[in-house]
Amino acid sequence: MNNVKTIPVQSTAELLAPGSIDAPTYSVKEKAALSEKIKRLLKEQDAVLVAHYYVDGEIQILAEETGGTVADSLEMARFGSQHPASTLVVAGVRFMGETAKILNPEKTVIMPTLEAECSLDISAPIDKFSAYCDQHPDRTVVVYANTSAAVKARADWVVTSSNAVAIVTHLHAQGEKILWAPDKHLGRYIEQQTGADMLIWDGACVVHEAFKADALENLKKHNPQAAVLVHPESPEDVIAQADVVGSTTRLIKAVTELPNKQFIVATDNGIFHKMKSMAGDKQLIEAPTAGVGATCESCAHCPWMAMNSLRNLADTLEQMKNEIVIDEDIRIKAIQPLERMLSFK
Ligand code: 13P
Ligand code: SF4
Repeated sequence: MNNVKTIPVQSTAELLAPGSIDAPTYSVKEKAALSEKIKRLLKEQDAVLVAHYYVDGEIQILAEETGGTVADSLEMARFGSQHPASTLVVAGVRFMGETAKILNPEKTVIMPTLEAECSLDISAPIDKFSAYCDQHPDRTVVVYANTSAAVKARADWVVTSSNAVAIVTHLHAQGEKILWAPDKHLGRYIEQQTGADMLIWDGACVVHEAFKADALENLKKHNPQAAVLVHPESPEDVIAQADVVGSTTRLIKAVTELPNKQFIVATDNGIFHKMKSMAGDKQLIEAPTAGVGATCESCAHCPWMAMNSLRNLADTLEQMKNEIVIDEDIRIKAIQPLERMLSFK
């Protein structure tokens, strides 16, 4: 066990300044020049910037200043479909760009990098997943949005963390048994919330899986007034300590709506940018990724979200490169479970 890194719990309990989380280093001059260039190129290319809450704060600022959006994965999908721009620039991870393209085949969808994957997407390769579905033909296939276009094409429903419980509740009420992939923690959470009969794939998010329940318990003792906010991709024993469990949007709302002055947050620390901009008077504390059994490989920041930068965003727009292309047969199949999700009330 000599490779286990232990970090005192209290060291994670620091007040975080807006935009200071793992921000790429730019000189003030370079940042201003890149921002101006991106603003000009967005206009010239008839493009709109659609960003996730986990990307660099500077990209989030640009998205909002230029009429784009910063959102959770569900709202990113909705926004791209509703906006008239002919090009969508998706700052996030690959499945987000693919979802935008599946829903908007007539639009050009580009990303600052095509290398930004997601450990959940990677954990469910289409051949294995399809074979698993074939073994369970009696089950309704429900997949998380964090999957490839091909996996979505094999599914009956796509869900995000915003609507997973509501959709599975609806399916369960109709007597349907579920095959769920790929996130085992979210799957278990949905199963517990809905009572549905679920077969659960063995995938996990590298970021959320790293949160440690024992260390969190200790941190709560040091900060008894803090509300604990947890994304449901986290382990069961971390979710069990939550005051609020939900999507990124839900957790941001909790910071503005709850009366607490302190929050312990178990999700990617890119979210602090938005939380701080909406509730600058609140203290945000990162949930611990250190403690018993910790390796702290991700340290609460998604390595793939971190690949998005002002530099590669500017290059992508200038050269109109990194376009998402999806096989039309796959796209036509994948749009069905996605549209089912978007029209679910
Ligand atoms: P949200 O849908 O809550 O934005 O989550 C997406 C994600 O990748 C979380 O790790
Ligand atoms: Fe995937 Fe986790 Fe990164 Fe979200 S934070 S994109 S689930 S690896």
